[in-house]
Amino acid sequence: MQTHVVDHPLVAHKLTTLRDERTDSPTFRRLADELVTLLAYEATRDVRTEEVDITTPVTSTSGVRLSHPRPLVVPILRAGLGMLEGMVRLLPTAEVGFLGMIRDEDTLQPSTYATRMPDDLSGRQVYVLDPMLATGGTLVAAIQELIHRGADDVTALCLLAAPEGIDLMERELAGAPVRVVTAAIDRRLNEHGYIVPGLGDAGDRMYG
Ligand code: PRP
Repeated sequence: MQTHVVDHPLVAHKLTTLRDERTDSPTFRRLADELVTLLAYEATRDVRTEEVDITTPVTSTSGVRLSHPRPLVVPILRAGLGMLEGMVRLLPTAEVGFLGMIRDEDTLQPSTYATRMPDDLSGRQVYVLDPMLATGGTLVAAIQELIHRGADDVTALCLLAAPEGIDLMERELAGAPVRVVTAAIDRRLNEHGYIVPGLGDAGDRMYG
């Protein structure tokens, strides 16, 4: 597994405003959307392309377009939904699947309440969207399901990650073709499984 922290002043600026408890829901959603587009630029660095021949108004030349099969984008509901528009803005031809998952507030264990994506993901590049990588339980379960369906290249985009979550992913997904792209890795988790300093509960701040 690889982890990539996007080190860019615009990313840091938007993340700081997201963290601020005074940021209201509409502003939070807008900034999350903008931040995703910046993360997506980095996360799609290895998106598969194929050569095409085209003709410009001046001459013939060659270029690239996204390969088939199309990439699949999977937001993890609920909070991952707030990242979808920012992602498909860069990948408008991507197919979109959905995973509904919730973390139990006491045990911190994830459970899946909705799944809508292709059964066969053989040879597919998949981009998973979830703003928070806390204990990592949600993302590990989601990615194991994608790999079980045949995905051979998975990139997770997270606004924020905790070291505990990165560690769990490295343990559980060792050797798997998985990358995490995030705006920051924070200090730790608190006793309630919240990222510190974090930004609170992303789902509640977007939709609560
Ligand atoms: C949050 C967050 C992640 C998960 C992270 O979702 O959006 O999906 O928890 O926690 P983990 O890394 O410890 O598994 P939540 O369960 O609050 O659901 P929501 O998106 O519907 O608010």
